Amino acid sequence: MGIRIAVLASGRGSNFQSIIDGIKEGDIDGEVVVLISDKPDAYAIERARQNGIPTRVIPPKECASREEMNLKIREALGSYSPDLIVLAGYMRIITDELLIPYLHRIINIHPALLPSFPGLDGQKQAFEYGVKVSGCTVHFVDGGCDTGPIIEQACVDIRDCKSADEVCEKILPFEHKAMRSVVAKFSRGRFVVEGRKVRYEDGRK
Ligand code: GRF
Repeated sequence: MGIRIAVLASGRGSNFQSIIDGIKEGDIDGEVVVLISDKPDAYAIERARQNGIPTRVIPPKECASREEMNLKIREALGSYSPDLIVLAGYMRIITDELLIPYLHRIINIHPALLPSFPGLDGQKQAFEYGVKVSGCTVHFVDGGCDTGPIIEQACVDIRDCKSADEVCEKILPFEHKAMRSVVAKFSRGRFVVEGRKVRYEDGRK
């Protein structure tokens, strides 16, 4: 039986699409059981609909605090029993309300080589800093902002990029590949976290 994947997304959802494609093409052994968004107009919701995936919108303005928002997400996820929660362009902090019940089962993608350029607009930060190489990082989520143990990274030479937008465009396909590959591995084995180190063991027990 494949894994049950829940996706949280705030925007266009191209990383979410890479998971849908990975399932359709047989790379990922599992299904997306729900898409949750904080934005009612996120294009990710439309992608979910097109693929028959249930959606839930939890707007932050209906929550008194960050903790309450995370609690509502936990409640919404409950009946779907996800094995893995993927933050695919989800732009909010995850708190203990979700972290504790889903320890080492929540992953995020960041468009820079962490620990460089965490937080918003990682590609713009890299461009303005003048680095020659940037990339993307898939990591486990902890209580910080883009600070959890690193699962996978891809390097991208950005010397030819003339703007932050060009950096975004150049890194994006590497994000899709890394996201799909990590979710596929998760569906076929397990990641063992030892401190900051993440090791992969093939085969699900
Ligand atoms: C990606 O660049 C991702 O790394 C960042 O937000 C962007 C989301 O893009 N966290 P999309 O919604 O997956 O197209």
